[in-house]
Amino acid sequence: MKPFRSLLLLTALLLPRLLPAEALIVYSHRHYPSDDALFAKFTEQTGIPVQVVKANAGELIERLKAEGQNSPADILITADAGNLALAKAAGVLQPVQSEILTAAIPESYRDPDNTWFGFTLRARVMIHAKDRVSPGELSTYEDLADPKWRGRILSRSSSHIYNQSLLASIIAANGETAALDWARAVRRNMARPPQGNDRDQMRAVAAGLADVAIVNTYYLGLMHHSPDPRDRQIADQLRVFFPNQDGRGIHMNVSGGGVTRASSRPETAQKFLEFLVSEEAQNTFPLTTSEFPVVPGIRLSELQQSWGGFNVDPLNLGTLGELNPAAVRLFNRSGWE
Ligand SMILES: [Fe+2]
Repeated sequence: MKPFRSLLLLTALLLPRLLPAEALIVYSHRHYPSDDALFAKFTEQTGIPVQVVKANAGELIERLKAEGQNSPADILITADAGNLALAKAAGVLQPVQSEILTAAIPESYRDPDNTWFGFTLRARVMIHAKDRVSPGELSTYEDLADPKWRGRILSRSSSHIYNQSLLASIIAANGETAALDWARAVRRNMARPPQGNDRDQMRAVAAGLADVAIVNTYYLGLMHHSPDPRDRQIADQLRVFFPNQDGRGIHMNVSGGGVTRASSRPETAQKFLEFLVSEEAQNTFPLTTSEFPVVPGIRLSELQQSWGGFNVDPLNLGTLGELNPAAVRLFNRSGWE
Protein backbone atom coordinates (compact mmCIF):
# COMPACT_ATOMS: atom_id res chain seq x y z
CA MET A 1 0.00 0.00 0.00
CA LYS A 2 1.27 3.46 -0.87
CA PRO A 3 1.98 5.70 2.12
CA PHE A 4 -0.61 8.24 1.01
CA ARG A 5 -3.39 5.63 0.79
CA SER A 6 -2.49 4.07 4.12
CA LEU A 7 -2.62 7.54 5.67
CA LEU A 8 -6.12 8.00 4.25
CA LEU A 9 -7.17 4.64 5.62
CA LEU A 10 -5.71 5.48 9.02
CA THR A 11 -7.56 8.79 9.03
CA ALA A 12 -10.81 7.06 8.10
CA LEU A 13 -10.36 4.59 10.95
CA LEU A 14 -9.50 7.22 13.52
CA LEU A 15 -11.97 9.88 12.49
CA PRO A 16 -15.08 8.51 14.21
CA ARG A 17 -13.14 8.30 17.50
CA LEU A 18 -11.83 11.83 17.24
CA LEU A 19 -15.17 13.47 16.48
CA PRO A 20 -17.53 13.93 19.43
CA ALA A 21 -20.64 11.73 19.28
CA GLU A 22 -23.50 13.32 17.38
CA ALA A 23 -25.94 14.99 19.77
CA LEU A 24 -29.33 13.49 20.49
CA ILE A 25 -31.88 16.15 19.62
CA VAL A 26 -34.71 16.51 22.13
CA TYR A 27 -37.78 18.65 21.41
CA SER A 28 -39.11 19.46 24.87
CA HIS A 29 -42.12 21.27 26.22
CA ARG A 30 -40.64 21.01 29.74
CA HIS A 31 -38.90 24.10 31.07
CA TYR A 32 -37.05 22.95 34.18
CA PRO A 33 -33.33 23.68 34.74
CA SER A 34 -33.24 20.32 36.57
CA ASP A 35 -33.99 18.56 33.24
CA ASP A 36 -30.75 20.00 31.83
CA ALA A 37 -28.83 18.66 34.83
CA LEU A 38 -30.48 15.26 34.37
CA PHE A 39 -29.68 15.13 30.65
CA ALA A 40 -26.06 16.03 31.49
CA LYS A 41 -25.92 12.86 33.61
CA PHE A 42 -27.04 10.85 30.57
CA THR A 43 -24.21 12.44 28.57
CA GLU A 44 -21.75 11.66 31.36
CA GLN A 45 -22.76 7.99 31.35
CA THR A 46 -23.02 7.42 27.59
CA GLY A 47 -20.80 10.06 25.99
CA ILE A 48 -23.81 11.15 23.92
CA PRO A 49 -24.45 14.90 24.05
CA VAL A 50 -28.07 16.04 24.33
CA GLN A 51 -29.30 19.15 22.59
CA VAL A 52 -32.68 20.49 23.72
CA VAL A 53 -35.06 22.61 21.64
CA LYS A 54 -37.78 24.14 23.85
CA ALA A 55 -41.23 25.25 22.74
CA ASN A 56 -44.82 24.46 23.70
CA ALA A 57 -46.40 21.14 22.76
CA GLY A 58 -48.52 22.46 19.90
CA GLU A 59 -45.55 24.23 18.31
CA LEU A 60 -43.31 21.18 18.65
CA ILE A 61 -45.88 18.83 17.11
CA GLU A 62 -46.51 21.27 14.22
CA ARG A 63 -42.78 21.59 13.70
CA LEU A 64 -42.32 17.81 13.62
CA LYS A 65 -45.15 17.52 11.09
CA ALA A 66 -43.68 20.25 8.88
CA GLU A 67 -40.16 18.80 9.05
CA GLY A 68 -41.35 15.28 8.27
CA GLN A 69 -38.57 12.77 7.68
CA ASN A 70 -36.05 15.64 7.54
CA SER A 71 -36.62 16.53 11.19
CA PRO A 72 -33.41 16.54 13.21
CA ALA A 73 -35.37 15.57 16.34
CA ASP A 74 -34.90 12.16 17.97
CA ILE A 75 -37.14 12.63 21.01
CA LEU A 76 -40.32 14.55 21.80
CA ILE A 77 -41.03 15.33 25.44
CA THR A 78 -44.21 17.01 26.61
CA ALA A 79 -46.58 17.28 29.51
CA ASP A 80 -49.99 15.64 29.65
CA ALA A 81 -51.16 12.39 28.09
CA GLY A 82 -53.58 14.50 26.02
CA ASN A 83 -50.63 16.16 24.25
CA LEU A 84 -48.80 12.84 23.87
CA ALA A 85 -51.93 11.37 22.27
CA LEU A 86 -52.09 14.35 19.89
CA ALA A 87 -48.46 13.69 18.89
CA LYS A 88 -49.25 10.03 18.33
CA ALA A 89 -52.30 10.91 16.21
CA ALA A 90 -50.19 13.37 14.19
CA GLY A 91 -47.93 10.45 13.27
CA VAL A 92 -44.74 12.07 14.56
CA LEU A 93 -43.80 9.26 16.97
CA GLN A 94 -42.61 5.71 16.31
CA PRO A 95 -43.24 2.67 18.47
CA VAL A 96 -40.46 1.48 20.77
CA GLN A 97 -40.17 -2.10 21.98
CA SER A 98 -38.33 -1.92 25.29
CA GLU A 99 -38.62 -4.38 28.16
CA ILE A 100 -36.99 -1.82 30.42
CA LEU A 101 -39.72 0.75 29.71
CA THR A 102 -42.64 -1.66 29.91
CA ALA A 103 -41.33 -3.24 33.12
CA ALA A 104 -40.66 0.11 34.84
CA ILE A 105 -43.79 2.06 33.85
CA PRO A 106 -47.24 0.91 35.02
CA GLU A 107 -49.48 0.07 32.07
CA SER A 108 -51.90 2.99 32.53
CA TYR A 109 -49.05 5.51 32.17
CA ARG A 110 -47.82 4.48 28.71
CA ASP A 111 -49.34 4.15 25.25
CA PRO A 112 -50.71 0.64 24.56
CA ASP A 113 -48.99 0.95 21.13
CA ASN A 114 -45.69 1.97 22.77
CA THR A 115 -45.33 5.33 21.00
CA TRP A 116 -45.18 7.35 24.26
CA PHE A 117 -44.13 6.66 27.83
CA GLY A 118 -44.80 8.65 31.01
CA PHE A 119 -41.78 9.36 33.17
CA THR A 120 -43.27 11.63 35.83
CA LEU A 121 -46.73 11.73 37.43
CA ARG A 122 -48.79 14.84 38.08
CA ALA A 123 -51.74 14.89 40.43
CA ARG A 124 -54.48 17.38 39.43
CA VAL A 125 -56.41 17.89 42.64
CA MET A 126 -57.62 20.67 44.92
CA ILE A 127 -55.71 23.06 47.12
CA HIS A 128 -57.56 25.11 49.69
CA ALA A 129 -56.97 27.94 52.14
CA LYS A 130 -56.04 26.33 55.47
CA ASP A 131 -58.03 28.84 57.47
CA ARG A 132 -61.24 28.99 55.40
CA VAL A 133 -61.91 25.37 54.42
CA SER A 134 -61.79 22.32 56.61
CA PRO A 135 -60.76 19.11 54.83
CA GLY A 136 -64.18 17.66 55.83
CA GLU A 137 -65.90 20.20 53.57
CA LEU A 138 -64.20 18.82 50.48
CA SER A 139 -64.94 15.37 49.08
CA THR A 140 -64.97 14.86 45.29
CA TYR A 141 -64.42 16.70 42.00
CA GLU A 142 -68.18 16.22 41.48
CA ASP A 143 -68.93 18.04 44.76
CA LEU A 144 -67.32 21.24 43.39
CA ALA A 145 -70.56 21.60 41.39
CA ASP A 146 -72.53 22.08 44.63
CA PRO A 147 -73.99 25.59 45.19
CA LYS A 148 -72.23 25.71 48.59
CA TRP A 149 -69.06 26.56 46.60
CA ARG A 150 -70.64 29.59 44.86
CA GLY A 151 -67.97 32.29 44.46
CA ARG A 152 -65.33 30.15 46.18
CA ILE A 153 -63.60 28.21 43.36
CA LEU A 154 -60.80 29.08 40.93
CA SER A 155 -59.33 27.29 37.93
CA ARG A 156 -57.44 28.18 34.79
CA SER A 157 -58.94 28.33 31.30
CA SER A 158 -60.56 25.32 29.66
CA SER A 159 -58.30 25.86 26.66
CA HIS A 160 -55.46 24.37 28.70
CA ILE A 161 -54.80 20.66 28.23
CA TYR A 162 -54.64 20.02 32.02
CA ASN A 163 -58.31 20.93 32.42
CA GLN A 164 -59.27 19.16 29.19
CA SER A 165 -57.69 15.96 30.48
CA LEU A 166 -59.40 16.37 33.86
CA LEU A 167 -62.76 16.73 32.10
CA ALA A 168 -61.91 13.73 29.87
CA SER A 169 -61.41 11.68 33.06
CA ILE A 170 -64.81 12.88 34.32
CA ILE A 171 -66.43 11.92 31.00
CA ALA A 172 -64.83 8.48 31.33
CA ALA A 173 -66.21 8.12 34.86
CA ASN A 174 -69.65 9.75 34.60
CA GLY A 175 -70.54 10.16 30.91
CA GLU A 176 -70.88 13.27 28.72
CA THR A 177 -74.16 14.62 30.11
CA ALA A 178 -72.92 14.60 33.70
CA ALA A 179 -69.57 16.04 32.62
CA LEU A 180 -71.27 18.96 30.85
CA ASP A 181 -73.47 19.67 33.89
CA TRP A 182 -70.36 19.55 36.08
CA ALA A 183 -68.39 22.00 33.93
CA ARG A 184 -71.35 24.42 33.86
CA ALA A 185 -71.85 24.27 37.61
CA VAL A 186 -68.16 24.61 38.48
CA ARG A 187 -67.91 27.61 36.15
CA ARG A 188 -70.91 29.15 37.93
CA ASN A 189 -69.17 28.61 41.26
CA MET A 190 -65.97 30.41 40.22
CA ALA A 191 -64.91 33.55 42.05
CA ARG A 192 -63.78 35.12 38.75
CA PRO A 193 -63.59 34.20 35.05
CA PRO A 194 -60.73 31.75 34.41
CA GLN A 195 -57.40 33.54 34.00
CA GLY A 196 -53.72 32.84 34.62
CA ASN A 197 -51.96 29.55 35.31
CA ASP A 198 -52.11 27.14 38.24
CA ARG A 199 -49.69 29.24 40.30
CA ASP A 200 -51.91 32.31 39.80
CA GLN A 201 -54.89 30.37 41.19
CA MET A 202 -52.88 29.53 44.31
CA ARG A 203 -51.77 33.15 44.74
CA ALA A 204 -55.40 34.26 44.44
CA VAL A 205 -56.58 31.73 47.05
CA ALA A 206 -53.82 32.86 49.43
CA ALA A 207 -54.91 36.47 48.81
CA GLY A 208 -58.46 35.58 49.85
CA LEU A 209 -60.12 35.86 46.44
CA ALA A 210 -61.41 32.28 46.65
CA ASP A 211 -61.15 29.28 48.97
CA VAL A 212 -60.38 26.35 46.65
CA ALA A 213 -58.47 25.91 43.39
CA ILE A 214 -58.03 23.02 40.98
CA VAL A 215 -54.28 22.69 40.40
CA ASN A 216 -51.40 20.26 39.90
CA THR A 217 -49.62 19.55 43.18
CA TYR A 218 -46.08 20.11 41.86
CA TYR A 219 -46.81 23.84 41.59
CA LEU A 220 -47.41 23.91 45.34
CA GLY A 221 -44.10 22.04 45.74
CA LEU A 222 -42.30 24.54 43.50
CA MET A 223 -43.71 27.44 45.54
CA HIS A 224 -42.89 25.69 48.81
CA HIS A 225 -39.24 25.31 47.68
CA SER A 226 -39.07 28.68 45.89
CA PRO A 227 -36.14 31.04 46.58
CA ASP A 228 -38.75 33.84 46.73
CA PRO A 229 -40.02 34.18 50.33
CA ARG A 230 -43.39 35.47 49.06
CA ASP A 231 -43.97 32.17 47.22
CA ARG A 232 -43.10 30.22 50.36
CA GLN A 233 -45.48 32.35 52.40
CA ILE A 234 -48.29 31.61 49.92
CA ALA A 235 -47.53 27.88 50.02
CA ASP A 236 -47.71 27.99 53.83
CA GLN A 237 -51.31 29.21 53.67
CA LEU A 238 -52.46 26.35 51.44
CA ARG A 239 -53.16 22.65 51.89
CA VAL A 240 -53.53 19.85 49.34
CA PHE A 241 -56.74 17.83 49.20
CA PHE A 242 -56.94 14.51 47.35
CA PRO A 243 -60.56 14.00 46.23
CA ASN A 244 -62.62 10.90 45.31
CA GLN A 245 -60.85 8.69 47.82
CA ASP A 246 -63.99 6.61 48.42
CA GLY A 247 -64.50 6.21 44.67
CA ARG A 248 -62.28 6.09 41.61
CA GLY A 249 -59.41 8.14 43.10
CA ILE A 250 -57.67 11.30 41.91
CA HIS A 251 -56.97 12.34 38.31
CA MET A 252 -53.31 11.50 37.68
CA ASN A 253 -51.56 12.60 34.52
CA VAL A 254 -48.04 12.23 33.16
CA SER A 255 -45.22 14.08 31.60
CA GLY A 256 -43.64 11.82 29.04
CA GLY A 257 -42.04 11.32 25.70
CA GLY A 258 -41.38 9.14 22.72
CA VAL A 259 -39.00 8.57 19.85
CA THR A 260 -39.78 10.68 16.80
CA ARG A 261 -40.81 9.02 13.55
CA ALA A 262 -37.91 10.85 11.87
CA SER A 263 -35.17 9.76 14.27
CA SER A 264 -32.25 8.18 12.46
CA ARG A 265 -31.00 6.72 15.76
CA PRO A 266 -34.00 5.11 17.43
CA GLU A 267 -31.79 2.77 19.51
CA THR A 268 -29.93 5.70 21.06
CA ALA A 269 -33.20 7.57 21.56
CA GLN A 270 -34.63 4.48 23.27
CA LYS A 271 -31.62 4.42 25.64
CA PHE A 272 -32.42 8.02 26.55
CA LEU A 273 -36.02 7.14 27.43
CA GLU A 274 -34.79 4.15 29.43
CA PHE A 275 -32.43 6.46 31.32
CA LEU A 276 -35.40 8.64 32.33
CA VAL A 277 -37.04 5.70 34.14
CA SER A 278 -33.78 4.57 35.79
CA GLU A 279 -33.70 4.71 39.58
CA GLU A 280 -31.14 7.49 39.39
CA ALA A 281 -33.36 9.69 37.21
CA GLN A 282 -36.60 8.84 39.00
CA ASN A 283 -35.09 9.74 42.37
CA THR A 284 -34.47 13.30 41.19
CA PHE A 285 -38.03 14.27 40.19
CA PRO A 286 -39.63 14.47 43.67
CA LEU A 287 -36.73 16.64 44.86
CA THR A 288 -36.39 18.98 41.87
CA THR A 289 -39.79 19.49 40.20
CA SER A 290 -41.98 18.05 43.00
CA GLU A 291 -43.53 15.70 40.44
CA PHE A 292 -44.30 12.13 41.49
CA PRO A 293 -42.06 9.40 40.05
CA VAL A 294 -43.73 7.07 37.52
CA VAL A 295 -41.78 4.06 38.79
CA PRO A 296 -43.44 2.54 41.87
CA GLY A 297 -41.39 2.37 45.06
CA ILE A 298 -39.26 5.47 44.46
CA ARG A 299 -38.87 7.58 47.60
CA LEU A 300 -41.07 10.69 47.72
CA SER A 301 -39.85 14.05 49.00
CA GLU A 302 -40.58 15.02 52.60
CA LEU A 303 -43.16 17.53 51.40
CA GLN A 304 -44.94 14.89 49.27
CA GLN A 305 -44.89 12.48 52.21
CA SER A 306 -46.44 15.17 54.41
CA TRP A 307 -49.45 15.29 52.05
CA GLY A 308 -50.27 11.68 52.93
CA GLY A 309 -51.12 8.71 50.72
CA PHE A 310 -53.97 8.67 48.21
CA ASN A 311 -55.77 6.45 45.69
CA VAL A 312 -55.49 7.08 41.98
CA ASP A 313 -58.04 6.67 39.17
CA PRO A 314 -56.86 3.50 37.33
CA LEU A 315 -57.99 4.90 33.95
CA ASN A 316 -55.54 4.19 31.13
CA LEU A 317 -54.28 7.64 30.14
CA GLY A 318 -54.61 6.80 26.45
CA THR A 319 -58.33 7.42 27.08
CA LEU A 320 -57.60 11.10 27.79
CA GLY A 321 -56.47 11.51 24.19
CA GLU A 322 -59.51 9.67 22.83
CA LEU A 323 -61.89 11.82 24.88
CA ASN A 324 -60.06 15.13 24.30
CA PRO A 325 -62.32 16.26 21.42
CA ALA A 326 -65.41 15.55 23.56
CA ALA A 327 -63.88 17.46 26.50
CA VAL A 328 -63.16 20.49 24.30
CA ARG A 329 -66.69 20.40 22.87
CA LEU A 330 -68.33 20.16 26.31
CA PHE A 331 -66.18 22.96 27.74
CA ASN A 332 -67.23 25.19 24.83
CA ARG A 333 -70.88 24.49 25.57
CA SER A 334 -70.45 24.92 29.33
CA GLY A 335 -69.38 28.58 29.29
CA TRP A 336 -66.08 27.74 31.02
CA GLU A 337 -63.85 30.02 28.98
FE1 LIG B 1 -47.32 22.44 34.38
